[in-house]
Amino acid sequence: MLANAKSTGLTMHILVNTGGGDAPGLNAVIRAVTLAALSRGWQVTGIRHGYEGLLRDEPGGLMPLDHKAVRGITHLGGTILGTVNKGNPFEFRTKSKGKVVLEDISDQVVARFKATGADALVCIGGDGSLRIGQKFFEKGIPVVGVPKTIDNDLSCTTATFGFDTAVSIAAEAIGRLHTTAESHRRVMVVEVMGRYAGWIALYAGLAGTADVILIPEIPYDLELVCAKIQQREAEGRHFAIVVVAEGAKPKGGELSVVGVEPGREVRLGGLAEKVALAIHERTGKETRFIVLGHLQRGGGPTARDRLLALRFGTAAVRLVERGEFGKMVALDPPKVKAVPILEAVSRIKAVDLESDTVATARDLGICFGD
Ligand code: F6P
Repeated sequence: MLANAKSTGLTMHILVNTGGGDAPGLNAVIRAVTLAALSRGWQVTGIRHGYEGLLRDEPGGLMPLDHKAVRGITHLGGTILGTVNKGNPFEFRTKSKGKVVLEDISDQVVARFKATGADALVCIGGDGSLRIGQKFFEKGIPVVGVPKTIDNDLSCTTATFGFDTAVSIAAEAIGRLHTTAESHRRVMVVEVMGRYAGWIALYAGLAGTADVILIPEIPYDLELVCAKIQQREAEGRHFAIVVVAEGAKPKGGELSVVGVEPGREVRLGGLAEKVALAIHERTGKETRFIVLGHLQRGGGPTARDRLLALRFGTAAVRLVERGEFGKMVALDPPKVKAVPILEAVSRIKAVDLESDTVATARDLGICFGD
């Protein structure tokens, strides 16, 4: 392993991949990694679709990244490298006798990585992809991680890129629902993403001035939600906006799940419909529900996410240069620092119920159903 590129004056070759669900800002990171590496006289190659591109024999699996390849992509959503969220090489999905079986093909990935002659791998991903990155680090690949997720649930970093964009889109959508909710005197229930953390719901709900916000960190009581709606009704406010995080749960109840597949994260969803129906049954109010879904991940990143992504991408190259492998770049305002990947993926970052953001919501009269 190359310990410190600067001290040895060596030319490095970096591989870079994007894994898991896409997030606005991925392309900005790819550009930043590429330009920072090229400016050091290094070589950069993108792996297409997670690790798949490394395993394919046909051309196109590996994508040389030069100035031309990354020109004009900072503001573009998605990822020019493609991504997969069912491509874990330690639990790779294959079919045997018509059944899905999980196979460990990680040794093949390590062998192919070595065959490229690359010196480092920059993994841009959320907790799942970084966990895979950590395992490859333990198998000898010099890995540097870059934290990505709209969910903002990665520990050791105050923010992940993609989150600000998702919040902006959700807040805009929630804001727009006010007029139609008021015109029809309806309760509108909006479901946002975020998996097991309530960051998007809390931030977008606050910014979009929701009346009720249900988050995974606070199991909710529907009676209290309905009491809030009825209180508004008594005050002459005949509509309400309820924001539900997809991972919110009723007190003593279960997660709302739409799909379970081997080798994949459980797919959450369907909560808005259930909550809307229950509110209608209890209050008699007309309700409608809307699931914002992948709109929160689509399109270009906000300026804040672009900036964070560019800072993260160049910081990742500086980590490679210093030989700091097994680390992830992380935001610790005003700095970008390095933290062990292992620490970042050891637990999810949940909403702090003692935070001023939660206190702000409570002081504004927003109901959490508790
Ligand atoms: O982790 C990002 C995320 O968008 C979650 O908020 C959501 O639960 C999940 O990915 C959706 O995954 P998919 O794109 O596989 O439907």
